[in-house]
Amino acid sequence: MEDQAEKLREMMRQKKEGAELGSAKSREGKRARIITITSGKGGVGKSNVSVNMALAYARLGKKVVVMDADLGLANVNVMLNMIPKWNLYHVIRKQKTMREILVETEYGISIVAGASGFSKIANLTEDERQNFIDELDTLSNADIIIIDTAAGVSSNVLDFVAAADDVVIITTPEPTAITDAYGIIKIIATEIDSLNMGLKLVVNRVHSVAEAKKVADRMTNIAGQFLNLKVDYLGFIYDDPVVSQAVLRQRPFMVADPKCKASLCVQHIVGRMEKSDYKESGGFSGMMKRIFRGGE
Ligand SMILES: Nc1ncnc2c1ncn2[C@@H]1O[C@H](COP(=O)(O)OP(=O)(O)O)[C@@H](O)[C@H]1O
Ligand SMILES: [Mg+2]
Repeated sequence: MEDQAEKLREMMRQKKEGAELGSAKSREGKRARIITITSGKGGVGKSNVSVNMALAYARLGKKVVVMDADLGLANVNVMLNMIPKWNLYHVIRKQKTMREILVETEYGISIVAGASGFSKIANLTEDERQNFIDELDTLSNADIIIIDTAAGVSSNVLDFVAAADDVVIITTPEPTAITDAYGIIKIIATEIDSLNMGLKLVVNRVHSVAEAKKVADRMTNIAGQFLNLKVDYLGFIYDDPVVSQAVLRQRPFMVADPKCKASLCVQHIVGRMEKSDYKESGGFSGMMKRIFRGGE
């Protein structure tokens, strides 16, 4: 038995090494932690949280990839002042491999640019779908993959939620944002086999710890009571003028001002993430199973 398992692990290791990312070292067959950032309402800070969390992870020595899965408003590259030539669309159409479209930034994180016109993974042909998931799997040699999604569930968001080890839901204290955040949690609960993934909440743009806690308590209580879902309160981010300045100057706030209120909050959040356990959810290769759970 032991022998068999070891053989299997060795095979996995070799497969991983074959798919090694750039010059990164293989991590003994352990795949990347996939963190999907989502929200109900748009404009609540998903892209800022994605990029700056990635930078906070990079400061801890982690190898991080940010994947822009927001179709309509692909803007991770804009926030970083980059104009990538290729994006996920070219990978789906088999014109490029994931490794070819991966771009290193000057900040020690890599990005995968988003694709407009990218339909749900479930809508791709069998061949395209398998190829795409294999390509996604080649990213798994990173330590952390952060997926920035579009707001709501109109597009492929659920596909990327299904791949996640952790889903971080962002809301602001605005009642509309809270209502929409609850809406997305409900959809995740019903559409995806979410038992293994950690659902986490970040309250962005708050003015006090108490304000954040009030929002978080409300959300976690409602999710527990009505959906029987455990949502962990991961932390909050202060409303901070440095954030919009950073967006304007196309230089992430974690880089522009690592000591500003927002940066300290993001570092705290990443610290909490690092402390929280997570069960590997099956990753990209497991996502199809979960997308189709209870479906077809
Ligand atoms: N913590 C914050 N403090 C101040 N402004 C913020 C904060 N978070 C987000 N913003 C503002 O909200 C805008 C939208 O953020 P963004 O990350 O693009 O949201 P999303 O990706 O959810 O659409 C930013 O450009 C910034 O001006
Ligand atoms: Mg965004």
